[in-house]
Amino acid sequence: MAKTIAFANLKGGTGKTTICINIAGCLTLINRTSRVLVVDFDPQANATSGLGIDENSLENSIYDVVLNQFQEYQGVPITQAIVETQIENIHLVPSELNLAAASILMQQCKDKVGILNRILTPIKSYYDYILIDVPSDTGLFMLNSLRATDEAVIPIDSSVFSIEALEKFQIYCQDIQEMTGHKINRFTVVLNRYIKSRTGASQSKKSSKNSISEEIEEGVKRMSYPLFKIPESLLVYRSQQEGMPISHISSTNQIVKNYMEIANYLSEVN
Ligand SMILES: Nc1ncnc2c1ncn2[C@@H]1O[C@H](COP(=O)(O)OP(=O)(O)OP(=O)(O)O)[C@@H](O)[C@H]1O
Ligand SMILES: [Mg+2]
Repeated sequence: MAKTIAFANLKGGTGKTTICINIAGCLTLINRTSRVLVVDFDPQANATSGLGIDENSLENSIYDVVLNQFQEYQGVPITQAIVETQIENIHLVPSELNLAAASILMQQCKDKVGILNRILTPIKSYYDYILIDVPSDTGLFMLNSLRATDEAVIPIDSSVFSIEALEKFQIYCQDIQEMTGHKINRFTVVLNRYIKSRTGASQSKKSSKNSISEEIEEGVKRMSYPLFKIPESLLVYRSQQEGMPISHISSTNQIVKNYMEIANYLSEVN
């Protein structure tokens, strides 16, 4: 049965999509037979383009799969929306802007938080990992993603708001547990675009000039989450242009080692 991992944060632009795509790439390298499905559950469709798929060329998307949950609409089962990507063993359920409108329909559903879980259940035996790219609104897309997932990766950036967002996310997940009975097994925080403090500074200078990233790191450690770091890298832009994970462009780069570390951790039984 697939392990489901949601990449989520209440704060936008922290690297959810980028990390999701790159962890997908690394998971296929850790075990060459692993089958990974990326589910783009964000109307922005960044995971779709980030994996080299043009949303305008699609026959079906997650939008049609959501429609399929409603008798009065014509949709398709998830198996008809899955597409292959340029990477062997990474499949994608693409998204498109129309998905935004589907949230209005989802509101009318009796079990409106369990829709994505119901959609994914029939294909769980086919994949080893299902990675969900979650938009950063607090609405039904995030509720459904967190209801459907076994664990969550929370990418944060180096801002004070990140710690606030992390605290709120914790409360949000507790609320979901109370509402649905679903417990997320593990939370992993990734400090993205990490900036190290300047090297060579004397110890006293260093403590007063600790980079914001290091202060945020200490804040996360106090909250006792497992924490990984990803540096700022220009390779992110190149990989977006090529529609591939960085691991499949430049396997020796430091950022790939950092993504690999996270993927190895996530692949462990927990
Ligand atoms: N390690 C990195 N180095 C450089 N740029 C990065 C890195 N990670 C992410 N970015 C850039 O930061 C921006 C935000 O990343 P991304 O789109 O993955 O965030 P997100 O959390 O998915 O955003 P949203 O909330 O809009 O879905 C993008 O422009 C991406 O290219
Ligand atoms: Mg995103």
